[in-house]
Amino acid sequence: MDNKKPLSLVIFGITSNLAQKYSLHALYDMQQKGILPENIQIIGNARRPLNKEEFADFVQDSLNSRNVHHPHSIDNQVLEQLINKIDYLQGNFDDPNFYLMLKQLIKNPNIIFYLATLPDLYRNIFENLKLTGLDSSLRGWVRIMVEKPFGIDLKSAKELNKLLLNYFKEEQIFRLDHYLGKETLQNILTFRFGNNIFEPLINHKYIDHIQITAAEDYGVGMRGSYYDQVGALKDVGQNHQLQMLAFATMEAPEQFTNEAITAQRLKILTALKPLKDKIVFGQYQGYQSEPNVNPNSQTETFYAYKTFIDNNKFKDIPIYVRAGKMLKQLATEVSIVFKNPVKNLFVSHNLGFEPNILIYRIKPNEGIVLKIVTKKPGHKVELEPEYMQFCYKLDHHSHYIPDPYEKLLIDTISGDQTFFNSAEEVEAQWAFIDSLISQKPQIELYEQGSWGPKAAIELIEADGRTWLEPSMDFCKV
Ligand SMILES: NC(=O)c1ccc[n+]([C@@H]2O[C@H](COP(=O)([O-])OP(=O)(O)OC[C@H]3O[C@@H](n4cnc5c(N)ncnc54)[C@H](OP(=O)(O)O)[C@@H]3O)[C@@H](O)[C@H]2O)c1
Repeated sequence: MDNKKPLSLVIFGITSNLAQKYSLHALYDMQQKGILPENIQIIGNARRPLNKEEFADFVQDSLNSRNVHHPHSIDNQVLEQLINKIDYLQGNFDDPNFYLMLKQLIKNPNIIFYLATLPDLYRNIFENLKLTGLDSSLRGWVRIMVEKPFGIDLKSAKELNKLLLNYFKEEQIFRLDHYLGKETLQNILTFRFGNNIFEPLINHKYIDHIQITAAEDYGVGMRGSYYDQVGALKDVGQNHQLQMLAFATMEAPEQFTNEAITAQRLKILTALKPLKDKIVFGQYQGYQSEPNVNPNSQTETFYAYKTFIDNNKFKDIPIYVRAGKMLKQLATEVSIVFKNPVKNLFVSHNLGFEPNILIYRIKPNEGIVLKIVTKKPGHKVELEPEYMQFCYKLDHHSHYIPDPYEKLLIDTISGDQTFFNSAEEVEAQWAFIDSLISQKPQIELYEQGSWGPKAAIELIEADGRTWLEPSMDFCKV
């Protein structure tokens, strides 16, 4: 495919929360680093009327004030260069005339349509792109980026896949879950399959169990109207966490290609066992009084469940997954907890049984660490747990770590779908989630700043195990 030809990037919903928080920051970074393709034309679309000056102010405000996820100061010269590359086209996505104006404005043979807008509008957008002939390009290629969540259940995801495939070919469709653009997640593959010493241990012979945590120490904020419709499980459980699990447990792909890697992720996603009586839902106290939340809301802000992967490698290894808001600590990680040796030479010493744990930490203090037992320096044989660590923050090479949105935009430009979801993957994820909650669990209230409801603790303690307290002792600056 020809990726050298000039590119038009069309962002439907340039004024969205998503664009303000992520997309505009990614574009700014790319402009600053000189990796925004030469001759790129960016067209931002939304409903609100904005003249050139108002749009420039909007971009500047977004970059300056909405950068909690991406804190850095804004250089005015870079900002101006970026703004000069963006045309704002106001219009209603329901209006066929809008697409005629868009067609006139697009001047390049290669085109990316980025849907940073509401899924209800997709059908109209696809239909109108087709009617105006913008769904394909005779002189180049057309690609479409679709954000997560992809549908709201299996049925709607299937319908959306069908709808997309009515208008575009699979190789044109980039289903985006920004977790797949994270360095830490991608590095799991290198860690596991680029080194020879860890992978032989990743199986039921050595692993006791796996824990996956996505904990936030803050609440729903101003996103109440969206979140209250969706809930924690569909917001992060159907996508980010299942992908974390897939990266940590998939078999080695035969080659480092999109087809081979996606096929291995899919094998894990289709092998997950939904255990309907091993799921707990919670809601933090005070959630119902948050802005734009239904005062009688029964939406979960926390979930915990147990599952298994139905294959030989992970036979009978329990996997415990939890995520929630207003919890004790901010931490997103996968922990592989190893079995203790039957004969432990040091079991009578002060630590007793202390398992080795391999931790893929996505945030904060990103890195890959191995919890080990060491001898405390001194005259006695005393043991203490320590971490062997690979940490991004302590990187002595001072590598540049791209933001996931930047990484995924670059991948889309080069036509690489490796770190995007296939149609089968999103459907497998929904199939698992749908059956997990075919009988909706009762909501239990939990205290803000806790680790969720009591039932979540009982879920794991019933198996003689406990949730790990995410450690902040490694990868600190
Ligand atoms: N926000 C996040 O953190 C986040 C994270 C991951 C994925 N996502 C996904 O990103 C997408 C956008 O979500 P969001 O919450 O950021 O949306 P949002 O803030 O509600 O923004 C919607 C955008 O669409 C435009 N729009 C709405 N109706 C329109 C119409 N009829 N014609 C033209 N423009 C119209 C709005 O323009 P006006 O401003 O002019 O009304 C605005 O730019 C969704 O698919 C969501 O699931 C969001």
